[in-house]
Amino acid sequence: MNIAIANDHGGYEYKQILIPFLQGLGHSVVDLGCHDSGSVDYADFALPCGEAVARSEADRGIVICGTGIGVSIAANKVKGIRCALCTDPLMARLTREHNDSNMLALGGRIIGIELAKEIVAVWLATDFTGGRHQNRIDKITRYESER
Ligand code: RB5
Repeated sequence: MNIAIANDHGGYEYKQILIPFLQGLGHSVVDLGCHDSGSVDYADFALPCGEAVARSEADRGIVICGTGIGVSIAANKVKGIRCALCTDPLMARLTREHNDSNMLALGGRIIGIELAKEIVAVWLATDFTGGRHQNRIDKITRYESER
């Protein structure tokens, strides 16, 4: 898959490790910044990452900040984005199976890097179950399109 990745200063260090990890899993990566550990505003990076996924310029998006909360809130403002903040592999599996999440948020100050790698690997490898879960997503999509 083609993965767009973005972060603020709280996620920079993890992104530097996750990019080669993703490439090692056979994915291509587009790095949308930020590009050093200087203080920035997470919305400036999470929103363009969401836009890239929403425009199908990337198959999936991964956003990282200190907690993962700021980037997930921002990404979820983009129409068509279902960004899931995950702190363990079970959440990563279930959000793919049930929510068909197209973006993953991680907290670089919350979880360890090995756990982050496992979450990413599970999230990318798990398919959406569909069925009753599709009906639930359709309600969100309908809500978005009516506004
Ligand atoms: C930056 O200090 C921090 O607020 C940010 O990385 C993130 O945790 C926000 O949700």
